Amino acid sequence: MDHTRHIHLSPLLGESVPHDTLPAPARGSGQESQDSVTAEIRAIEADAARRVQQGGSPELHPRRDYPPYRSSLLRHPTHELVRVDPEEVERVSPAFGHTDVNVLESDLTIQHVGEPLGERMTVSGRVLDGEGRPVRHQLVELWQANAGGRYVHKRDQHPAPLDPNFTGVGRVITGDNGEYKFTTIKPGAYPWKNHVNAWRPAHIHFSLFGNAFTQRLITQMYFPGDPLFALDPIYQSIADPAARARLVGTYDHDLSVSEWSIGYNWDIVLTGPKATWMEGEDAHD
Ligand SMILES: [Fe+2]
Repeated sequence: MDHTRHIHLSPLLGESVPHDTLPAPARGSGQESQDSVTAEIRAIEADAARRVQQGGSPELHPRRDYPPYRSSLLRHPTHELVRVDPEEVERVSPAFGHTDVNVLESDLTIQHVGEPLGERMTVSGRVLDGEGRPVRHQLVELWQANAGGRYVHKRDQHPAPLDPNFTGVGRVITGDNGEYKFTTIKPGAYPWKNHVNAWRPAHIHFSLFGNAFTQRLITQMYFPGDPLFALDPIYQSIADPAARARLVGTYDHDLSVSEWSIGYNWDIVLTGPKATWMEGEDAHD
């Protein structure tokens, strides 16, 4: 499978740090209003739409230089990426076996003595390559805030409750058809310090390995109909509306379990024109 469009490796990608809870921004005071940030978002969106109307290609990936996402301004790469050939070991790794991940790790609701609070949900889908072939036996990891919108992390100190029965981390290995399934709690929206009264839409972070360590991919899944989409500089940093929409899971009644959980479907496509957007070196929460 060809992952070459997405070979971006950075140690930053491995951090499960809620960067969007960090103090403010390189440019701007962090005291700007939602209205002024939204105006910037809309202006960029309109400009991108105009470029497409004039024959340009849709922007399927987030802009690295996206001023409404204030704290990214000093982080984003300013030079072309340097692409390197992976070492031979990278051509055959990682290879995960059945013993590498315990089957219980895909259920985030059974990691503690008691049950976590919140809306129990399942999220399931397939990991596919650009030709629709299953990406089988690969590691999928997720991390997320709890139902109150709080991460278990020392840098997340906003006044929402921690849940002693919820850590918010899970892993699974994809099956023969590239399928994965997690049971978890629907995360809450949470505030961040990009501007005054800034809130991230509810989301779940996903990490995937392709067929080499250098192909590690990180992205976020959102929930349908979230009113915060239009206001969120991270979600909106992808200029193409259809590409943004591919980050949103679909409510799937067949995945809902009677008397138990709400089901969402979310397929992840690694390459090709319908690829799920993946974070590059400059992207965080
Ligand atoms: Fe987050």
